[in-house]
Amino acid sequence: MSIPEELQKILRSARDVVALTGAGISAESGIPTFRGNDGLWSKLNPEELANFDAFLRNPELVSEWYEHRRQITRESKPNPAHYALVEMEKSFRSFTVITQNIDNLHKRAGSKTVAELHGNIERNYCLGCGKRYDGEEFDRNGSFRCSECGGLIRPDIVWFGEMLPEDEWALAEEAAQRADVMFVVGTSSVVYPAAELPMTVRRNGGKIVEVNIEETPLSDSADFSFKGSASMVLSEITDEIKELRGFAKDTE
Ligand code: OAD
Repeated sequence: MSIPEELQKILRSARDVVALTGAGISAESGIPTFRGNDGLWSKLNPEELANFDAFLRNPELVSEWYEHRRQITRESKPNPAHYALVEMEKSFRSFTVITQNIDNLHKRAGSKTVAELHGNIERNYCLGCGKRYDGEEFDRNGSFRCSECGGLIRPDIVWFGEMLPEDEWALAEEAAQRADVMFVVGTSSVVYPAAELPMTVRRNGGKIVEVNIEETPLSDSADFSFKGSASMVLSEITDEIKELRGFAKDTE
């Protein structure tokens, strides 16, 4: 894979960089994506599982589904694409990962600034009293009923029809506004408001670099588009960045 000279030039002088990631970046860690032929939503209807009414109607079913997904993510490991973003971070004045994923893999890989737009599967809270159940505490509780008040414990993730967490969205928007470059990795770019962020970058004069195994609605308007697996493409781009810039951060 070769990186066009124009992009090399941009990466040489870029200061503030953002990576917007979706389920495709974790596909190589063995976590299923949502869309496409073997995606989660081809077998399951999101209306039945990923919304608040569904949870109230059948908390046991919805909780079991998230328990199943929690097991998959815990047994998975970050892959070279997650680690490439950790490496990339070292070369720029600021580097923000904005993720739609709830799998915690960016943080496990070691990325320092991560905006989790759709929440995190390791966090839960009680709808009754607000008690938080993080990871192991939730396991120890052993039920979706709160040990304090008996209320329903829900995962701290964004379901269809719900607002994004305000602080994570603010972090994402601010990073997008000042980004010189945004990498858009492994997302179908169809779920809003996340899909709006590349437009924010563009409006403020930044460049869009898409990395995906297939075309998306963003591909035509991206400044650069790499067709290939996230791990392969991001590893090569990271190597190139190191060569272009060394490890020195531009801190001016
Ligand atoms: P999707 O399942 O919609 O899209 C995954 C994208 O990753 C597709 O464009 C694939 O072509 C691409 N892809 C798959 N494997 C890849 C690989 N190895 N390397 C690079 N790209 C690859 O997932 P998202 O865009 O993340 O929301 O979906 C957005 C949101 O829709 C999710 O966060 C979730 C879902 O409903 C909530 O649950 C709130």
